[in-house]
Amino acid sequence: MKNIVLTGFMGSGKTTIGKLIAEKLKIDLVDTDSEIIKEFGLTIDRIFEIYGEKKFRECERKVIERVSKLENVVISTGGGVVLEPENIRLLRENGVIYFLYASPDTILKRLKDDNSRPLLKNGDKLSNIIRLLNLRMPFYKNCDFEINTDILTPELVAEKIISIHMTKESRK
Ligand code: S3P
Repeated sequence: MKNIVLTGFMGSGKTTIGKLIAEKLKIDLVDTDSEIIKEFGLTIDRIFEIYGEKKFRECERKVIERVSKLENVVISTGGGVVLEPENIRLLRENGVIYFLYASPDTILKRLKDDNSRPLLKNGDKLSNIIRLLNLRMPFYKNCDFEINTDILTPELVAEKIISIHMTKESRK
């Protein structure tokens, strides 16, 4: 089976939904942020603080190179993975890319008490979310399928993705 690759902005539910899909299909979940944390032995926040975003993105690219070679897994990606066209090209080789959309208000609701995202730390959170989401929308839109998570429970989003994926697989 082709990999199920989840993309979307911070707080769009990639990790939660990834876990649900992996559980339901009894396959492994690979989370690119967790892989980067393992490589550095530091939290994402500390990686940004000590090494900066450039080094983080370099490591992210290496992780994508490695995990995109896997098969039959769910891959939950960090919100900025889509910014590098080569990441998308690699992930698409063995996978179908699902973009989980969430509106700025939903993202703010989900992340209002969260301080683990370095890119949302300075200044007004909602303004940062709107600015970054607008900048990234063309990249997210370049994915294979878009699912709006605003009005669906994680359970329903997971089922929807499985249904799309299985239909695609059965047509091969
Ligand atoms: C980032 C999203 C984060 C993490 C890092 C950068 C981004 O992952 O990779 O803080 O650029 O959007 P999540 O989307 O899992 O929060």
